[in-house]
Amino acid sequence: MLIPVIMAGGSGTRLWPLSRKLYPKQFHNFGDELTMLQATVRRLAGLPVDKPLLLCNEEHRFLAAEQLRQLGLEEVPILLEPEGRNTAPAIALAALHLLEEGDDPVLLVLAADHRIGDVAAFQAGVRQGLALAEAGKLVTFGIVPQSPETGYGYIQRGEELTGAGFAVRRFVEKPDAATAEDYLAAGDYYWNSGMFMFRAGRYLAELELFQPAMVAACRAALAGKMHDLHFIRVSREDFLACPADSIDYAVMEKTEEAALVPLDAGWCDLGSWSALWETAPRDGQGNVCDGDVLARDTRDCLLMAQSRLLATFGVRDLVVVETKDAVMVADRRRAQEVKALVEALATAE
Ligand code: GDD
Ligand code: MG
Repeated sequence: MLIPVIMAGGSGTRLWPLSRKLYPKQFHNFGDELTMLQATVRRLAGLPVDKPLLLCNEEHRFLAAEQLRQLGLEEVPILLEPEGRNTAPAIALAALHLLEEGDDPVLLVLAADHRIGDVAAFQAGVRQGLALAEAGKLVTFGIVPQSPETGYGYIQRGEELTGAGFAVRRFVEKPDAATAEDYLAAGDYYWNSGMFMFRAGRYLAELELFQPAMVAACRAALAGKMHDLHFIRVSREDFLACPADSIDYAVMEKTEEAALVPLDAGWCDLGSWSALWETAPRDGQGNVCDGDVLARDTRDCLLMAQSRLLATFGVRDLVVVETKDAVMVADRRRAQEVKALVEALATAE
C-alpha cells in the first residue's frame, strides 16, 4: 500500500499579505487553474497509490473539503489538527491513524505548496524510491540547488544504494547564508524538496528515538479520535500538549536511515515572493504583473494588485502586493524576511 499524505496546514506567512491566517497559500491558485492543494492531488494520477489522506488545520476544514469536492474527491479523509504543531506531529498523527487502518503502509508525504513542472519525472522519482521506502528507509527527494537559498534543507549525498538512490551523509535544515554558499560550492549537496516516503511504522520508530514526548502526545490525541463525515478529529487537549517541530529538525537531521532520490522535475516551493517571481512568466522588462497594474520604466519586479490600480515608475527589484486591507512594498531579494515582518505584526496585535 502506498498512501499519499498531503500536508496542507502551513500558514504561508512569507507570502503575506496575500496568504492569510484564514486563507493560506496552499488554497490559492496564483494565476493557475487549480489551487496548489488541488495541483498536489492531481499530480498523483497514474501512480499506484491508494486514497490520499489530507492533513490540515481545523479552521481550514471547509476550504480543504470544498477544494477536494471541486475535483470530485469528496471521499478523501481530512485529518484535522486543532492547532498547528508543525509537520513532525502532523505526520505522526497520519502514521498512527493509517497503521490502525492497515498493514504498515508506505506513506508518500507531500507538501501542498510546491510547483512541479515535469509530473512524469516526479512520478518516476516516486516509483524509483518505493523499494527503498519498503525496505525501511526514510526517502527524501533531492533537488540540484540553483542558489544558496536559506529557506531550504540541504542534503549531502553519500554512497550509492543499489542503483535506486543514495545514502544521506548529512541533512541540515535551513543553514545560514555562508553555510549554504559552502554547500553549493561543494557540489554534493541537494535541496530537500520537502517530500518524503517511508513506512508509517519506520517513521514512528525514528520519531520515538528523538522525540518520544511527541509520539506519546499524538498517540493520546488519536486515542480519542472521532469520525465526522470525512473529517477525522483528534483530542484537542492532548494534541495541544504536543511539542512543535518540523520533520526536518525532529527526524531528518538526526536519523541514520535516510536515503536520497535525486529529482529533476522542475520543482519549486512557492514559499516566498522571490520564488514566485523566479518561476512565473516575466514580461520583456522582467516584471511579473497580476491584476490592474501599470508598470513604467520598471524592471524585475513582482507587482500584484487585488483591489486597486497599482502604478510604478522608475523602480527595480521590488515586490509590491496590494490587497484590500494591506499593501506591502519590499526589496525582492529580501523576500525571506517577510516571515519575520508578519511575526512582528502578530505580536504587535
Ligand atoms: N498539516 C500540517 N500541519 N501541515 C503543515 C504544518 C502543520 O502544522 N506546518 C506546515 N505544514 C505544511 C505546509 O502547508 C507545507 O505544505 C509543508 O507542510 C511544508 O511546510 P513549510 O512551512 O512550507 O516548510 P518550509 O518550506 O519552510 O521547509 C520545508 O520545505 C522545504 C522545501 O519546500 C522543509 O522540508 C525544507 O527542508 C525544504 O527544503
Ligand atoms: Mg514550504
